[in-house]
Amino acid sequence: MEPRDEPDPTTWWERYGHRLGGDPVAADHVGEPVSEDPSPAPAPFEPDLLLRARGPVPDRGWRRWLHVVTLGRVDPGPSAAQLAEQDRLARVRSRLAGTHRVAITSLKGGVGKTTVTACLGLALAEHRGDRILALDANPDAGTLADRLTGHTDRTVRDLLDDLDRIDSWTAVSRYTSLAGRLQVLASEQDPAAGEAFTRDEYLRVDAVLARFFSVMLTDSGTGMVHSAMSGTLDVADSLVVVGAPTVDGAGRASKTLDWLVAHGHERLVREAVVVLVGRGSREIDAAALQEHFRTRTRAVVEIPHDPHLGTGGRIDPARLRPATREAFLALAAAVAEAFPARVSSTAT
Ligand SMILES: Nc1ncnc2c1ncn2[C@@H]1O[C@H](COP(=O)(O)OP(=O)(O)OP(=O)(O)O)[C@@H](O)[C@H]1O
Ligand SMILES: [Mg+2]
Repeated sequence: MEPRDEPDPTTWWERYGHRLGGDPVAADHVGEPVSEDPSPAPAPFEPDLLLRARGPVPDRGWRRWLHVVTLGRVDPGPSAAQLAEQDRLARVRSRLAGTHRVAITSLKGGVGKTTVTACLGLALAEHRGDRILALDANPDAGTLADRLTGHTDRTVRDLLDDLDRIDSWTAVSRYTSLAGRLQVLASEQDPAAGEAFTRDEYLRVDAVLARFFSVMLTDSGTGMVHSAMSGTLDVADSLVVVGAPTVDGAGRASKTLDWLVAHGHERLVREAVVVLVGRGSREIDAAALQEHFRTRTRAVVEIPHDPHLGTGGRIDPARLRPATREAFLALAAAVAEAFPARVSSTAT
């Protein structure tokens, strides 16, 4: 009798068996003769082999719905958006050896530096287990702490005055306030005293804080020539340059890069992340704008206009639009890509 023309069970099982709760490994042995060896060597204990290989469960949209109503028997797999988010999270969680200092700068004032510092810090702190600091080095009564915690009673000036006594985490935390898991250090609130925050003072504060924090974000204040700025740039491991998707906003960001190159910071510029905040006009060629900065720097991230950020008040991450959260996660991932000794957390 002719054998029946059946579908190839190996192929089908290998492709779909695990989604129905089967063990696809077993399919490898279909049709193999049973071993004649009476005393096979004991297989080493491999915990991973005891787990059925399953990919990530879909967490949104129709894919999640289908997975839930079929009790996981039908698994359409994650969407491209979910995979992209997981990739960003893996990059944000990259391991970091030592302390990484990020300076957030721009030649132009009012372009969004403080908001970017705050939301970048919140994104890093939310997804990482180590200590993240957002430090306001603005000489003109900076608003970073106002936007994050509202606590400006202890400032970087107080920390500087007591620097010799800072020998423990408890001592440091007396000068910072908490927004979620992000530590925030306010700037001097008296603009006249702020002028006295010199390069040396910045470096002394930095040296002490670096013993306690893995990532230090410095909101540098407006302009590139105030006294603390040269200290910030001298110790920065990487740079975020903030601009806007407009001809003048992008022009100022480009001039910021020129200024940095002219003052010996070519490496920082090559590795910089440019952030374009807000809406651009339809008349702007957004692709050409991105291309311009891509040729000069490591990455470009666009942050959309967000009504909650537009209030200029205290930032509540839960009130940000999903697209804004996504954009700041993309920024955090781009920044974390420059972390030294990067080891993907998914590989561990
Ligand atoms: N993505 C955004 N969507 C809507 N509004 C925003 C966004 N980013 C920043 N803003 C608003 O723009 C204004 C200026 O932002 P911000 O204070 O961050 O700028 P800055 O560069 O730090 O200014 P300065 O140079 O004075 O320190 C604020 O009111 C802020 O809330
Ligand atoms: Mg500011």
